[in-house]
Order: sequence, then C-alpha cells, then structure tokens
Amino acid sequence: MTKKPWSKTAKLGGKLLAPSILSADFSRLAEEVASVEKLGADWVHVDVMDNHFVPNLTIGAPVVASLRKATKMPLDCHLMVENPEKLIPAFLKAGADGITIHVESTKDVAGAIKMIRDGGARVGITLRPRTSLTEILPYLPDVDLVLVMTVEPGFGGQSFMHDQVEKVTRLKAERESKKLDYVIQIDGGVNRETVRELGDADCLVAGSFVFGASDRAQALRDLS
Ligand code: DX5
Ligand code: ZN
Repeated sequence: MTKKPWSKTAKLGGKLLAPSILSADFSRLAEEVASVEKLGADWVHVDVMDNHFVPNLTIGAPVVASLRKATKMPLDCHLMVENPEKLIPAFLKAGADGITIHVESTKDVAGAIKMIRDGGARVGITLRPRTSLTEILPYLPDVDLVLVMTVEPGFGGQSFMHDQVEKVTRLKAERESKKLDYVIQIDGGVNRETVRELGDADCLVAGSFVFGASDRAQALRDLS
C-alpha cells in the first residue's frame, strides 16, 4: 500500500476504522469482513498471536492469503509474535498491506522495519502498555503507523487503559515538531464511550464493539 494521508482515506468520518476480526465468527470470516466493508470500514485488522509473545494463539499467513481474495479492504496485520522477521516474508507474500511489529519482539527492530518496507507494505510499530514511548522514538522517522495499545495485547474484550492516552498526545506533538507523517492508531477497549478520549488518533481498531454489536452500522457510526 502506498502511503496516503489518513484524512483522505477515511470513509465514514474523520477517522480510519479498522474492525479487528479477533471478535468475528471465524467459521464465516469472508461474510463477517464483507459485512463491515459494506458499512464503510476502512481496513481489516488482523491479530496474529503466537502463544509466546502473548498467551494466546490465533491465525497465520494462510488466513491472510484467503482474506486477500475475499475483500478489497487493506489488510492491517498486527504481529504479536516473537522474532517477527521469521514470519514477515510469508505475510508479505500473502498480501498484507500493512504489518505492525512490537518493539519488544525482536532484537533487530530496524531490520524488521526494513524487511516490511522492502516488501512494499506499510510499516507499523507498537509497544505494550508498560513499555515507555522512548523505546520507539528512534524508529518514528521510518514508519507509516504507530499503534498505541490501550489493553495488554493478547485478548479482545478487555477494558480500555485510560493512562495510555497521553502517548497519543505525545506522538501527535512529536509528529508535528519533527515533521513526520505516521498514522496514530489505537487498539484495545475502543467503544462509543472511550472514543471521546481519542480525538488525536487517526485510526481506531475495534473488535468486540463492532463484531459484537447487534447493529454494526450504528457501532461504526459511533466511532467515526
Ligand atoms: C488485542 C488485539 C486487539 C483486539 C481488540 O491484543 O490487538 O486488536 O482485537 O479487541 P477489543 O476491541 O475487543 O478490545
Ligand atoms: Zn490488534
């Protein structure tokens, strides 16, 4: 995916909306993704967990390859895995549009960023809630997206960590002062209440709030 200013790509309103399929029905994944695409979602957020970096196991590149055939939406892959460089080539080949890695997950963050960049995908970096923002500052000029985790990575349906919102404010200030252009994305506990604290974010990931809603159209409108 080529770099595009977030404000020109959001369909429903000011923010890009990226429903997380972690809370979708995996036995009907194509239909689930189509349902949010039709309602104006911008990206599909794919949570990849290896049961090492986080205590949960989800899906790998073959599912991304299948999703690639099922939707035109960009596939935004959030790798919660140890040593992501071992898996990045498979995700690139499967058609991932964006790949986000955790700063804590590899000794060679710069190398992993370069792999994603050279593979032609959008590069994202993220950090656990307890990790200081200073850990990712050196990489900000080299990424297209910074993901602020507002829950401990590993599971959907957790409560929003309000104390992480200051990272969003700092990332916005850093982007302005250094003239950078990354998308600021939020993941975890996003719903119609917590979105009020996220005015400075550009892209919202939401799993249970969207896929668990009886009215998904309303849920997406509530976030936009
Ligand atoms: C958690 C994942 C999230 C998760 C969010 O590790 O990264 O993407 O799906 O789920 P909700 O929106 O239910 O908090
Ligand atoms: Zn995620």
